[in-house]
Amino acid sequence: MTAADEQHDALLRLDQLEDGALCETEARFEGNDAESLILLREGDDVRAWLNVCPHAGRRLDWAPGRFLKDKQGRLVCAVHGATFELERGECVAGPCRGAALRTVPVVVDAGVVRLLRT
Ligand code: FES
Repeated sequence: MTAADEQHDALLRLDQLEDGALCETEARFEGNDAESLILLREGDDVRAWLNVCPHAGRRLDWAPGRFLKDKQGRLVCAVHGATFELERGECVAGPCRGAALRTVPVVVDAGVVRLLRT
């Protein structure tokens, strides 16, 4: 498959997300129901993961789009407190230590964050 074959779905504008902030949005994958995503802006880049905790499969936010962070800036699951570093989405403390959030490929293109489908 070439880059020309890839399909990109817009998620939000980059300027809607403050640098260093987390937010939640939804995306559809291959005709399935919409799935919740966690987005993290880092400068001009954005990382994304499924908003599904590897511990018990629950959302990590305590209210839609409202995420907990610890003093080190790590993401804390609101359900049972699993703590995730935000480089690779790996759980570094709590009930699923060593597990990781599922990465979702996104790109920033002309100021728009897009889901990358290959
Ligand atoms: S569901 Fe996230 S820590 Fe249990």
